Amino acid sequence: MVPNTLFMGQQLFFLPVCASTNSEAQQLLLKNEATEGCVVLTDEQTHGRGQRGNSWEAAPGKNITLSVILSPVFLAVRHQFYLNMAVSLAVLDLLREQGLEQARVKWPNDLYFEDRKLGGILIENTVTGQSIQHSIVGIGLNVNQLHFGIGTATSLAAEIGTQLDVKRLVNRLLELLEKRYLELRSGKIDKLKYEYLQALYRYQEKHGYRIGSEVVQGQIMGVDEDGRLALEVEGELRYFGFKEIAYLI
Ligand code: BTN
Repeated sequence: MVPNTLFMGQQLFFLPVCASTNSEAQQLLLKNEATEGCVVLTDEQTHGRGQRGNSWEAAPGKNITLSVILSPVFLAVRHQFYLNMAVSLAVLDLLREQGLEQARVKWPNDLYFEDRKLGGILIENTVTGQSIQHSIVGIGLNVNQLHFGIGTATSLAAEIGTQLDVKRLVNRLLELLEKRYLELRSGKIDKLKYEYLQALYRYQEKHGYRIGSEVVQGQIMGVDEDGRLALEVEGELRYFGFKEIAYLI
């Protein structure tokens, strides 16, 4: 089964087990063996990596665990967050097609349904001068797993009540990813930004956040050019980088 795409997933390496598909993709880049859209797919990661140096745990054979190699040389380093937006929207497109209309993107790029996490994205960029040479886009999406070590984790199957064909979903995800990536490449930034904001978890709602040792009530108002979260706290707009703020869920 091959995705119906121009380049996304046309070169695909399937590894039954590996440490991390992002790390495997890095090796392919070093060996010059990857063309744009090259995918590393696995059934099981032994050292899956998440954001903030966390690990990524997923039951073998039940979930989507892959990395895609892209060359967004058209994207200035300062605009790298637009790639996060495009990728998040592609995964969201998939979730919505599967019936999770209410799925959301928790800034910067976690996939949520209500207050539960369905998946995450880890993007690692190689930068030369002002532009991005390569991006390794790692996507972990819980599909058929029903039991989790973390209480706030969930899966598509847990939410819709049916087991799904992971291989078919991988192909569909690659098709949707190509569509969003081509939007980005053709400069449809305003469209992506608009849709990203519309899909943002807790957008314009009042909730609690931890900023250092301080707990505040704030309202997410948007995301700036650098991908920082704009939070209104007591009438003042404040901007936060990824490691500077935590959601209270
Ligand atoms: C996060 O939410 O912290 C991001 C999780 C990203 C996990 C994926 S699974 C495929 C790819 N390979 C990795 O080692 N990590 C990403």
